[in-house]
Amino acid sequence: MNKTNVLIIYYSTHHGNTLKLCQNLKDKYNFDLMDVKDVTHDIIRQYQTICLASGIYAFSFPKEIKDIVTNENFNDKKVFIIYTCATNYHHYDKSLIKQLLSFDNVNYLGTFSCLGFTTYGPLNLFKGIHKQRPNNDDILNLFKFIEDKIISHII
Ligand SMILES: Cc1cc2nc3c(=O)[nH]c(=O)nc-3n(C[C@H](O)[C@H](O)[C@H](O)COP(=O)(O)O)c2cc1C
Repeated sequence: MNKTNVLIIYYSTHHGNTLKLCQNLKDKYNFDLMDVKDVTHDIIRQYQTICLASGIYAFSFPKEIKDIVTNENFNDKKVFIIYTCATNYHHYDKSLIKQLLSFDNVNYLGTFSCLGFTTYGPLNLFKGIHKQRPNNDDILNLFKFIEDKIISHII
């Protein structure tokens, strides 16, 4: 695929679960990919479409991702969200979406989420849960999400 004007900003510190999804998107769709700690104001300004991607920690997106939404300007941008977690029946993206929708003319395109390998706290005793996740099916579902919800907005 030709170069698109999409930047994925990721935070993925537990097992690289979210990064695995993002790397697959970079390889298939040629999206740019950047660790949230390397993102600057000038970089964000260059992109029309931003993806915020992260694991969930203590029922929330990490401060690093929330700070990007607080401190940067998302007016007129298209945004989508990706997250991995241990229990995916919560809408962990709710408050992030609310914050994003306060920008002028922002176009929120959707959220993809799936389970990720977790060894946090007592789960470590069982050698973790959701081993091998995200797996190939998760990645195919992610590609379907991109084709259904994102592609028509970015080309
Ligand atoms: C400190 C910590 C807290 C977590 N809290 C939650 C949580 O509240 N809800 C949940 O579903 N998963 C939780 N998880 C699981 C992670 O969201 C999950 O493993 C995710 O895939 C990690 O992504 P990463 O490997 O990209 O960092 C937690 C993991 C850690 C290490």
